[in-house]
Amino acid sequence: MDTQPPQQGLKIYKRLVRYALQHWQWLTYSLIGLVIGAATEPLFASLMEPLMDGAFLDKDPKILAYMPFAILLVFLARGISSFISGYYMTKVGRTVVKQLRSELFDQLLHVPISYFDTNPSGQLLAKLTYHVEQVASASTQGLTVIVRDTLTIIGLLGLMFYQSWQLTLGLLLIVPVITLIVIYVSKRFRNLSLNLQKSVGDITQIANETISAQREVRIFDGETYEKERFEAANHHNWKMHLKNALTDKISTPLIQFMIAIALSIIIYIATQASVLETLTPGKFTAFIMALILLLTPVRRLTAINSILQKGIAASTSIFSLLDEQREQDTGKKELTQCKGNVRVENINFRYNSSEKDVLSGLSMDVKAGEKYAFVGKSGSGKTTFVNLLPRFYDYQQGTIYLDDIPITELSLSNLRQQFAYVSQNITLFNDTVRNNIAYGHQQSTATDKDIRTAAQAAHALEFIEKMPQGLDTLIGDDGILLSGGQRQRIAIARAILSNAPILILDEATSALDTESERHIQAALVKLLENRTTFMIAHRLSTIEEADCILVLDEGKVVESGSHAELLAQKGRYHHLYQMQFSEQTD
Ligand SMILES: Nc1ncnc2c1ncn2[C@@H]1O[C@H](COP(=O)(O)OP(=O)(O)OP(=O)(O)O)[C@@H](O)[C@H]1O
Ligand SMILES: [Mg+2]
Repeated sequence: MDTQPPQQGLKIYKRLVRYALQHWQWLTYSLIGLVIGAATEPLFASLMEPLMDGAFLDKDPKILAYMPFAILLVFLARGISSFISGYYMTKVGRTVVKQLRSELFDQLLHVPISYFDTNPSGQLLAKLTYHVEQVASASTQGLTVIVRDTLTIIGLLGLMFYQSWQLTLGLLLIVPVITLIVIYVSKRFRNLSLNLQKSVGDITQIANETISAQREVRIFDGETYEKERFEAANHHNWKMHLKNALTDKISTPLIQFMIAIALSIIIYIATQASVLETLTPGKFTAFIMALILLLTPVRRLTAINSILQKGIAASTSIFSLLDEQREQDTGKKELTQCKGNVRVENINFRYNSSEKDVLSGLSMDVKAGEKYAFVGKSGSGKTTFVNLLPRFYDYQQGTIYLDDIPITELSLSNLRQQFAYVSQNITLFNDTVRNNIAYGHQQSTATDKDIRTAAQAAHALEFIEKMPQGLDTLIGDDGILLSGGQRQRIAIARAILSNAPILILDEATSALDTESERHIQAALVKLLENRTTFMIAHRLSTIEEADCILVLDEGKVVESGSHAELLAQKGRYHHLYQMQFSEQTD
């Protein structure tokens, strides 16, 4: 994460603080706690004067009596205030985390699908988990340190001035030197710990690759290469740790020695005759105590910048997602009884990243209930086209009408309700078979009988019934416990169950054996009699029954017609068919 320019950083920090300010009541409790906590430090140091002079030297009975209670009282106040400030600050921090997470998740549900093309899922997950945490700790720690430590320092310095202005002035001359050293050391530490983190990352990366690619490593004789790579990373990590230890182990005695120098200078000044007569042992002890108490808040305050920078970098990443433009959902019309007529007029489409049109001049007029099939080389634009229908992407030119209404004039949710989709890359949820078939709005409405009927039509019931808990079997992360063909059949059952008037099947049966595919096809034809269907298939035998077959090439329709018509044309379709046919008879 980079350092932000200060102007930008301030703006982002302000935006972050606004989140915290929504919980101003808790924040107030916490601030009161911080102020009281900050006051207890100089209070404690100032007790040293009456303790030394009054109790030990003069043996004043009044002071002797109240001193133990005074000390208890100060620590009681310190304990209670630190509890209140800590608890309420955490409450604010956790609430902001919760709120940011909800907003991010909601945003993920509404950004255009194309957003996911350019943002790897790993990075998006990091925003939701790691970055959000960083923001919370940065904002609460930042506030705590700035408020409490600044006040503590002011209080302690004030006390020191009050006890002896000569000593304080002397001290103020040394403090900058110590501060500079502390800053230098902590900066070096930060760089070292970054390097260290990276070297740990290198080790896990190499180990992870080797573990998951065992087969490739062994068959391509990669052992030596991987071993050398790993050794290098391992050695680098070892070196970084030792460097870290070097700085760490030197810095503590170094800082302690600097403090000793400061102390000796102060003692030197204190013992000068002119100063000595203004000092009592009590004043001197109070002064030294204040000085010792000063070290911790000063150290924390010098580290605050790095905490804030981390927080600002993390917020930048979070706000960039939150500020992302959502899907255009300006359509107001709603179809209550969609018939399923789809008219496509002269569509041109390109992805943001593509240099030329992926689809050009696409037109078709699909009447309700008709089956349209798309064939063509890999990369010819078949998946791209069907993705335009439910507006996963918006086309640049032309119009698509659903029941004579341009799809952009329908509300997104209404438009998408009209579709069921079995995509080329099926995703299943880590849930039961039942919840995977009855996904989304179906979950509450579908009966057991509906689910079974759909599963039967998709030829899924036979294997579901063999599973240990039937429909209630958990299928693992993305259905890992199922075979490729079983996954497809679950997805088809899901599409059948949703009674949407239009169905999109993108290579929906590609992982099935020919026999199951035939069975499903037969069932689908019966089942989908009244539903408009767009199907994509490489195996031509599955689309012979389609009302119209479109042959795509580089985003253009090069042939169209029924199976028989296309065969008669003896063009590309005929050629494809011949090839597959001869493969089969071989
Ligand atoms: N999200 C995307 N961003 C940019 N370009 C893409 C994206 N998806 C696909 N493409 C490109 O668009 C073209 C058409 O891809 P598409 O997935 O529509 O092909 P397809 O006909 O479905 O191929 P296949 O038969 O292999 O599934 C390809 O050149 C591909 O590289
Ligand atoms: Mg495809």
